[in-house]
Amino acid sequence: AGVRHYKCEVKYDYRSPDCYKKLVITINGQTPGPTIEAQEGDTVIVEVNNDLLTENLAIHWHGIRQIGTPWFDGTEGVSQCPILPGDTFVYQFVVDRPGTYLYHAHYGMQREAGLYGMIRVAPNEPEPFTYDFDRSIILNDWYHQSTYEQAALLSSIPFQWVGEPQSLLIHGKGRFNCSLTPSLKADVCNSSNPQCSPFVQTVITGKTYRLRVASLTALSALSFQIEGHNMTVVEADGHYVDPFVVQNLYIYSGETYSVIVKTDKDPSRNYWITSNVVSRNRTTPPGLAIFNYYPNHPMRSPPTPPPSPPAWDNVDSRLAQSLKIKAHQSYINKPPTTSDRVIVMLNTQNSIDGYRHWSVNNVSFFLPHTPYLIALKENFTDEFSQTSPPDSYDSNYDIFSVANNTNATSSNGIYRLQFNITVDVILQNANTMNKNNSETHPWHLHGHDFWVLGYGKGKFDVNNDTKNYNLVNPIRKNTVPVHPFGWTALRFRSDNPGVWAFHCHIESHFYMGMGVIFEEGIDRVGKLPSSIMGCGKSKGIN
Ligand code: C2O
Ligand code: CU
Repeated sequence: AGVRHYKCEVKYDYRSPDCYKKLVITINGQTPGPTIEAQEGDTVIVEVNNDLLTENLAIHWHGIRQIGTPWFDGTEGVSQCPILPGDTFVYQFVVDRPGTYLYHAHYGMQREAGLYGMIRVAPNEPEPFTYDFDRSIILNDWYHQSTYEQAALLSSIPFQWVGEPQSLLIHGKGRFNCSLTPSLKADVCNSSNPQCSPFVQTVITGKTYRLRVASLTALSALSFQIEGHNMTVVEADGHYVDPFVVQNLYIYSGETYSVIVKTDKDPSRNYWITSNVVSRNRTTPPGLAIFNYYPNHPMRSPPTPPPSPPAWDNVDSRLAQSLKIKAHQSYINKPPTTSDRVIVMLNTQNSIDGYRHWSVNNVSFFLPHTPYLIALKENFTDEFSQTSPPDSYDSNYDIFSVANNTNATSSNGIYRLQFNITVDVILQNANTMNKNNSETHPWHLHGHDFWVLGYGKGKFDVNNDTKNYNLVNPIRKNTVPVHPFGWTALRFRSDNPGVWAFHCHIESHFYMGMGVIFEEGIDRVGKLPSSIMGCGKSKGIN
């Protein structure tokens, strides 16, 4: 196995990704940042320079399990102290499995300022599908407000919701209609700025393309389509999928998929690539890019209108796609048939001291000043609450009614898992603080892949729903949605010594407390590098 060196210079720059000019975070001058390419088994070394001038930083390698290097997970407050402005931090980790992964900021709400990119790990063994070309698309949504404005609004009394994003980006490019806001001067919003010309994927007729599609949206669940073309799903979060065909791919923040697309349509024209918001009553216009059949001009608009998206509130269709994602028959890795610990996690919105929060089992999470990994290793027991959040919620709770949750609290307590056991997590969705409303939450687990044992509607029933668990060919993933008013069941082994975040990948939801922390095998964690120290009680340790 080899060593791959990368340098990431992170800084703010004025950009107009959707024609509207604002400060965005760039990596080596780009957003999305450069793709990290490696071979299965390689060691990746990334030297990160924080040139943000007035802002801390941490970068998370999303989907990389960090076996043996929990201190390089890049999660500020969990695995490391933040990288200070002007400092350089070196991440070093092994990419032990092939597939499509991501990287993004894991400090405050920086991710949605533009700090994100893709990691592609090439396999050592042949894959269960073939293709002529391998291409990548990262989907995102985009706000015109700064992350500071958004954070301030979310943490004010009364709570002020930041609202729907202004546009959807396809590989860093979108289109906001400047003329809708005539007060915007041309130097702020200019529809003819080349920075917001649509993303173009040029293809050759009669070929097979592997398209790696990833989402790092701040908020939105998406439907992704290529006009007139079917997509065969073959990979999800780095695992091979029992192939199935879709016209529109539902994708949630933090997920990656590979789809196979054949360029066998009328080659005399171009086609639309679209992304659309689902699960929320969309007001954001579709993301539009061009699927360009060579040698048509790449900027030639397709002659037909963009394909219409599925109904935003069609939960059944999204649930059906979730259920279709199973492990490829030649790559089945069976889960343990029973579990040692079951944690049911009720997802609710709460009001705590007048502030709006998201909570798990009525506990809203916040980060401590000393990263957990350091506090646990050094036995700094007063650095975070030593009371663990509960393993379940009141069984009489009505998930269909508006939550009052008058006893909800904020805590930085964590789940401590016995090492090397099998853990089940049942994510239970519920009504928000608005009537007849439940949202989709994509939950992401650091440091592991979990088996997805099942999805269901309504309240999880421990006596009956467990009988329908898929123990035969469940897919393994690191991010999974819990659908509105539904539940999702996961299983994983607590076999990776370290401290790992498990949280909703919606940036504002995690910011508002929608997450938990798992500790496992802390006594097996090796000596912590001094580069992660420096904040809270870790000052002076090395
Ligand atoms: Cu991609 Cu903790 O996140
Ligand atoms: Cu959420």
